[in-house]
Amino acid sequence: MFSKKIAVLFSGSGSNLEAILSKIHGKIFNGVKLEVAVTICNKSGVYGIERAKKYGLETIIIENKNFATREEFDTALVNKIKKHGVDLVVLAGFMRILTPVFTSQIRAINLHPSLLPLFKGAHAIKESFESDMKVGGVSVHWVSEELDGGKIIAQRAFEREKDMSLEAWEAKIHAIEHEILPETIVEILTNN
Ligand code: GAR
Repeated sequence: MFSKKIAVLFSGSGSNLEAILSKIHGKIFNGVKLEVAVTICNKSGVYGIERAKKYGLETIIIENKNFATREEFDTALVNKIKKHGVDLVVLAGFMRILTPVFTSQIRAINLHPSLLPLFKGAHAIKESFESDMKVGGVSVHWVSEELDGGKIIAQRAFEREKDMSLEAWEAKIHAIEHEILPETIVEILTNN
Protein backbone atom coordinates (compact mmCIF):
# COMPACT_ATOMS: atom_id res chain seq x y z
CA MET A 1 0.00 0.00 0.00
CA PHE A 2 1.26 3.44 -1.00
CA SER A 3 1.27 5.76 2.01
CA LYS A 4 1.96 9.43 2.69
CA LYS A 5 3.05 10.98 5.95
CA ILE A 6 1.92 14.22 7.51
CA ALA A 7 3.35 16.34 10.34
CA VAL A 8 0.85 18.53 12.19
CA LEU A 9 2.08 21.58 14.12
CA PHE A 10 -0.24 23.29 16.62
CA SER A 11 -0.13 25.69 19.58
CA GLY A 12 -3.36 25.31 21.54
CA SER A 13 -6.72 23.61 21.61
CA GLY A 14 -5.99 21.42 18.60
CA SER A 15 -9.55 21.08 17.31
CA ASN A 16 -8.19 21.13 13.77
CA LEU A 17 -5.59 18.53 14.66
CA GLU A 18 -8.46 16.36 15.92
CA ALA A 19 -10.42 16.93 12.70
CA ILE A 20 -7.41 15.66 10.74
CA LEU A 21 -6.97 12.66 13.06
CA SER A 22 -10.62 11.64 13.01
CA LYS A 23 -11.25 12.24 9.31
CA ILE A 24 -8.08 11.16 7.49
CA HIS A 25 -5.46 9.59 9.80
CA GLY A 26 -4.95 5.93 8.90
CA LYS A 27 -7.53 6.10 6.11
CA ILE A 28 -7.16 5.38 2.41
CA PHE A 29 -8.03 7.91 -0.29
CA ASN A 30 -7.52 7.16 -4.00
CA GLY A 31 -5.38 4.18 -3.02
CA VAL A 32 -3.13 6.28 -0.78
CA LYS A 33 -3.02 5.70 2.97
CA LEU A 34 -2.60 8.95 4.92
CA GLU A 35 -0.85 8.92 8.24
CA VAL A 36 -0.14 11.62 10.81
CA ALA A 37 3.42 10.54 11.58
CA VAL A 38 4.26 13.28 14.05
CA THR A 39 2.60 16.08 16.02
CA ILE A 40 4.64 19.04 17.25
CA CYS A 41 3.61 21.80 19.64
CA ASN A 42 5.42 24.94 20.77
CA LYS A 43 3.70 25.09 24.19
CA SER A 44 3.45 22.59 27.03
CA GLY A 45 0.16 21.84 28.76
CA VAL A 46 -2.20 22.71 25.92
CA TYR A 47 -5.30 20.63 25.13
CA GLY A 48 -4.15 19.58 21.65
CA ILE A 49 -1.55 17.34 23.31
CA GLU A 50 -4.38 15.36 24.97
CA ARG A 51 -6.27 15.10 21.68
CA ALA A 52 -3.19 13.63 19.99
CA LYS A 53 -2.77 11.11 22.84
CA LYS A 54 -6.27 9.75 22.18
CA TYR A 55 -4.93 8.63 18.81
CA GLY A 56 -1.74 7.16 20.27
CA LEU A 57 0.43 10.10 19.26
CA GLU A 58 2.98 11.46 21.72
CA THR A 59 3.41 15.11 20.79
CA ILE A 60 6.92 16.49 20.52
CA ILE A 61 7.12 19.74 22.47
CA ILE A 62 9.59 22.34 21.28
CA GLU A 63 9.00 25.44 23.36
CA ASN A 64 9.88 28.63 21.54
CA LYS A 65 10.51 30.37 24.85
CA ASN A 66 13.64 28.22 25.26
CA PHE A 67 15.28 29.69 22.17
CA ALA A 68 17.03 33.05 21.93
CA THR A 69 16.05 33.74 18.33
CA ARG A 70 13.31 32.77 15.87
CA GLU A 71 15.99 31.24 13.64
CA GLU A 72 17.25 28.93 16.39
CA PHE A 73 13.71 27.78 17.15
CA ASP A 74 13.01 27.21 13.45
CA THR A 75 16.23 25.20 13.10
CA ALA A 76 15.13 22.87 15.91
CA LEU A 77 11.71 22.55 14.29
CA VAL A 78 13.12 21.83 10.84
CA ASN A 79 15.55 19.20 12.19
CA LYS A 80 12.75 17.39 13.99
CA ILE A 81 10.47 17.48 10.94
CA LYS A 82 13.24 16.22 8.63
CA LYS A 83 13.90 13.25 10.93
CA HIS A 84 10.37 12.02 10.27
CA GLY A 85 10.61 12.29 6.49
CA VAL A 86 7.06 13.56 5.98
CA ASP A 87 5.39 14.43 2.67
CA LEU A 88 3.52 17.47 3.99
CA VAL A 89 3.63 19.71 7.04
CA VAL A 90 0.31 21.14 8.20
CA LEU A 91 0.13 24.24 10.41
CA ALA A 92 -3.16 23.80 12.27
CA GLY A 93 -3.36 26.72 14.68
CA PHE A 94 0.43 27.00 14.92
CA MET A 95 0.80 30.56 16.21
CA ARG A 96 4.38 31.34 15.29
CA ILE A 97 5.90 33.66 12.71
CA LEU A 98 8.27 31.49 10.72
CA THR A 99 11.61 32.62 9.28
CA PRO A 100 13.21 31.62 5.97
CA VAL A 101 15.07 28.90 7.93
CA PHE A 102 11.71 27.11 7.98
CA THR A 103 9.99 28.41 4.85
CA SER A 104 12.90 27.69 2.51
CA GLN A 105 13.24 24.07 3.64
CA ILE A 106 9.77 22.82 4.50
CA ARG A 107 6.76 22.24 2.24
CA ALA A 108 3.91 23.36 4.44
CA ILE A 109 0.31 24.55 4.33
CA ASN A 110 -1.38 26.87 6.83
CA LEU A 111 -4.97 27.22 7.95
CA HIS A 112 -6.19 30.80 8.43
CA PRO A 113 -9.58 31.90 9.80
CA SER A 114 -10.40 34.59 7.21
CA LEU A 115 -10.76 35.13 3.51
CA LEU A 116 -7.15 36.01 2.71
CA PRO A 117 -5.64 38.38 1.78
CA LEU A 118 -8.01 40.10 4.21
CA PHE A 119 -7.36 39.98 7.96
CA LYS A 120 -3.87 38.52 8.08
CA GLY A 121 -2.29 37.95 11.51
CA ALA A 122 -3.31 36.56 14.86
CA HIS A 123 -6.71 38.29 15.31
CA ALA A 124 -8.47 37.38 12.08
CA ILE A 125 -11.69 36.09 13.66
CA LYS A 126 -12.34 39.21 15.76
CA GLU A 127 -11.22 41.62 13.06
CA SER A 128 -13.34 40.01 10.36
CA PHE A 129 -16.34 39.92 12.73
CA GLU A 130 -15.93 43.60 13.58
CA SER A 131 -15.62 44.60 9.92
CA ASP A 132 -18.71 45.48 7.94
CA MET A 133 -18.23 42.53 5.60
CA LYS A 134 -21.32 40.50 4.83
CA VAL A 135 -19.28 37.31 4.50
CA GLY A 136 -16.62 35.61 6.56
CA GLY A 137 -14.55 32.58 5.70
CA VAL A 138 -11.52 30.36 5.91
CA SER A 139 -8.39 29.95 3.79
CA VAL A 140 -5.76 27.26 3.35
CA HIS A 141 -2.55 28.45 1.72
CA TRP A 142 1.03 27.42 1.05
CA VAL A 143 3.43 28.74 3.64
CA SER A 144 5.85 31.33 2.29
CA GLU A 145 8.21 33.89 3.76
CA GLU A 146 5.37 36.39 3.95
CA LEU A 147 3.08 35.92 6.97
CA ASP A 148 -0.29 34.52 5.79
CA GLY A 149 0.81 35.52 2.28
CA GLY A 150 1.56 32.31 0.34
CA LYS A 151 -0.47 31.08 -2.61
CA ILE A 152 -4.08 30.28 -1.69
CA ILE A 153 -5.07 26.63 -2.18
CA ALA A 154 -8.66 26.58 -0.91
CA GLN A 155 -11.21 29.02 0.50
CA ARG A 156 -14.74 28.75 1.80
CA ALA A 157 -17.07 31.62 2.67
CA PHE A 158 -20.27 31.92 4.69
CA GLU A 159 -22.87 34.66 4.95
CA ARG A 160 -23.25 36.83 8.01
CA GLU A 161 -26.58 36.14 9.66
CA LYS A 162 -28.69 38.97 11.02
CA ASP A 163 -27.51 39.98 14.52
CA MET A 164 -24.83 37.26 14.46
CA SER A 165 -22.78 37.16 17.68
CA LEU A 166 -19.00 36.83 17.78
CA GLU A 167 -19.47 33.36 19.26
CA ALA A 168 -21.67 32.26 16.36
CA TRP A 169 -19.22 33.79 13.87
CA GLU A 170 -16.35 31.91 15.46
CA ALA A 171 -18.28 28.63 15.62
CA LYS A 172 -19.11 28.93 11.92
CA ILE A 173 -15.42 29.49 11.10
CA HIS A 174 -14.32 26.47 13.12
CA ALA A 175 -16.98 24.23 11.56
CA ILE A 176 -15.73 25.18 8.09
CA GLU A 177 -12.09 24.72 9.14
CA HIS A 178 -12.79 21.18 10.32
CA GLU A 179 -14.04 20.35 6.82
CA ILE A 180 -11.74 22.33 4.54
CA LEU A 181 -8.39 21.42 6.14
CA PRO A 182 -8.73 17.62 5.97
CA GLU A 183 -10.23 17.91 2.46
CA THR A 184 -7.31 20.02 1.26
CA ILE A 185 -4.73 17.63 2.69
CA VAL A 186 -6.42 14.73 0.88
CA GLU A 187 -6.47 16.74 -2.34
CA ILE A 188 -2.77 17.63 -2.13
CA LEU A 189 -1.52 14.17 -1.18
CA THR A 190 -3.71 11.95 -3.31
CA ASN A 191 -4.29 13.89 -6.55
CA ASN A 192 -1.09 13.87 -8.51
C1 GAR B 1 -7.92 28.16 14.09
O1 GAR B 1 -9.04 28.99 14.03
C2 GAR B 1 -6.90 28.57 13.04
O2 GAR B 1 -7.48 29.01 11.84
C3 GAR B 1 -6.20 29.70 13.75
O3 GAR B 1 -6.03 29.22 15.06
C4 GAR B 1 -7.14 28.39 15.40
C5 GAR B 1 -6.65 27.12 16.02
O4 GAR B 1 -7.70 26.37 16.56
N1 GAR B 1 -4.95 30.02 13.12
C6 GAR B 1 -4.51 31.26 12.95
O5 GAR B 1 -5.10 32.24 13.35
C7 GAR B 1 -3.19 31.37 12.20
N2 GAR B 1 -2.88 32.72 11.91
P1 GAR B 1 -7.47 24.87 17.06
O6 GAR B 1 -6.25 24.90 17.99
O7 GAR B 1 -8.71 24.51 17.81
O8 GAR B 1 -7.24 24.01 15.86
